[in-house]
Amino acid sequence: MDHNAAFQAYETAALSAIAAATDAAGLEKVRIEFLGKKQGQLKDLQAVVGKVAADQRPAVGKLFNDVRDKVTAALEERQKLLEKPKKSLTAIDIALPGTEFKLGKRHPLTQTMEDFKDIIGRFGFTVADGPEIEDEYHNFKALNIPDDHPARDPLENFYLSTASYAAGQPLQPRLLRSQTSTVQIRVMEQQQPPIRIVSLGRVYRPDTIDATHSCMFHQMEGLMIGADVTMAQLKTVLRLFATTYLGQDVTIRFRPSFFPFTEPSVEVDMSWGKDWLEIGGAGMVDPNVLKAVGYDPEVVTGFAFGLGIERFCMRRHQIKDIRRFYENDVRFLAQF
Ligand code: PHE
Repeated sequence: MDHNAAFQAYETAALSAIAAATDAAGLEKVRIEFLGKKQGQLKDLQAVVGKVAADQRPAVGKLFNDVRDKVTAALEERQKLLEKPKKSLTAIDIALPGTEFKLGKRHPLTQTMEDFKDIIGRFGFTVADGPEIEDEYHNFKALNIPDDHPARDPLENFYLSTASYAAGQPLQPRLLRSQTSTVQIRVMEQQQPPIRIVSLGRVYRPDTIDATHSCMFHQMEGLMIGADVTMAQLKTVLRLFATTYLGQDVTIRFRPSFFPFTEPSVEVDMSWGKDWLEIGGAGMVDPNVLKAVGYDPEVVTGFAFGLGIERFCMRRHQIKDIRRFYENDVRFLAQF
């Protein structure tokens, strides 16, 4: 067989073996057979080149190289193809119309709380946080609520059973906080004036559930402490806050009231049609509260407020029943 015929036979056999390989392992066998350096067909072909006359050897050598390069290229291409995952049903056809997803929405109360933080943040209030499981000191005592106050009645609160107390902890009664005013104390224990914070979160009271009451609801507590904080500032902040969230047509009304932790105290109402709805309590921080956290009431004053978040959201969206918020009915929730 002359060298040309040998090259031709080698090339044809190699290319068809490469094309016939269906997986990487099979292709590797083909590589060893046709391109292996130590043995196999390439070695035989080299021997053919060795036998040609010396003057023809450069030309034949070049032909040998060409054939080997061609087979090597074919093998590499096949390798790449076999590496790729098979085109199958998982391939994405970008020309097809997409599947329609209904994106979920944040709960209306979550949206309201985001709005609240945004609005009150413009008055310079930052957000603080506190625990929902509280001790009597933070929920009552430090807030100047005496032992015999009706708000401390076990029937007015969700006390936790002693079995739930952490092991090794002193047996101190714990309850689900009934107001976010607890966070006033927690913040003042940690920081020195001036203070300007809000705290938003859940509170729990064993109230009879109806259209405007729930045993769990959300409050935004506000606290501002400084050298000369005044009641006028409190009223301005609450009016501006309410009209920013609810619109200019809302009227905010302050009624004299009583809270153990503020003096003087007011109840805050908003107009809703021809009616008034209570939205929270507020007042000037009682000197006893300032003393409880180690502040000097002769040096600093402050105001505090607690607003019901549900009621704001209800007025803004004309929701007539507070129970809607907690039923998880998507037909209701999807509207916001
Ligand atoms: N904590 C009071 C309540 O839940 C509201 C309040 C907060 C009143 C701050 C005065 C100052 O009813």
